[in-house]
Amino acid sequence: MPISPCMREKMYRTYLEFFESAERKRRWNLFDDVPWDKLDAAHNSERGAACIETYCAEEFYLPDYSARGMELVRTMFGAAWFSACWSYEESKHGLVFREYLTRSGLRTPEEFAAFEGRIFAHSWKLPFPTHRQMACYGALQEAATCIAYRAQREAASRDGNLVLEAIFSFVSRDEAAHARFYRTMIELEMEEDREGTLADFAHVLANFKMPGDGLIPDYKERLKTSGAGISPRTFLESGVFPIIKAIGTTRAELKQALSRIAPIIAAVPAIA
Ligand SMILES: [Fe+2]
Ligand SMILES: [Fe+2]
Repeated sequence: MPISPCMREKMYRTYLEFFESAERKRRWNLFDDVPWDKLDAAHNSERGAACIETYCAEEFYLPDYSARGMELVRTMFGAAWFSACWSYEESKHGLVFREYLTRSGLRTPEEFAAFEGRIFAHSWKLPFPTHRQMACYGALQEAATCIAYRAQREAASRDGNLVLEAIFSFVSRDEAAHARFYRTMIELEMEEDREGTLADFAHVLANFKMPGDGLIPDYKERLKTSGAGISPRTFLESGVFPIIKAIGTTRAELKQALSRIAPIIAAVPAIA
């Protein structure tokens, strides 16, 4: 469905603000800003390697995310240019994790080649068919990723791992900015069609799963054993509810939307 001229203009403005902030405040350099000279083998562990490898695997489906995502938004300037910028920023995430795994000696080049082969043997498909639903998905997925990376940054800080602390600081900041952009997209969609957007949000939330779920072998088990995952409660409290608040639903609308996600909400009695 074509978007209105008003929506087109608002999308463009939103992207311009995102891009200006990224260019002025958020750019980071993989070669100069990560303190690689502080790598210390004392921090190496197989659990830690499995954790970074899981994130790396998820970031490595970038060619699929970019291709499918761009195809969906190619006629909407703001959303399409965001997709291009997003791809550049995400490309650094997979790269910096890869560099960490190999420079630290946690993985050999041969192990990494085999890992790449396993990743690229499968491709990611769009979980939802429309731009509006994918904006809802983007807000949730980027929020979940940001929460996980922030937790890793704090863990690295506690462990005195300066390299990982820097890496997770940069990538979590990027993910937070992506989450904000998608959240604004939902707000713009709500201005156009409040009821339809809320229905989409509820549908996406009820069927939400991370991109690696179903693609990366033993994904859920890996999240658990490597410490890469976040709990459903953390996702709800730090990811989902702030989005629900930010997009400004009324009580009645919220109730209606929440009734569709009853199984998830039931896990958090304080919210029901
Ligand atoms: Fe990322
Ligand atoms: Fe992201």
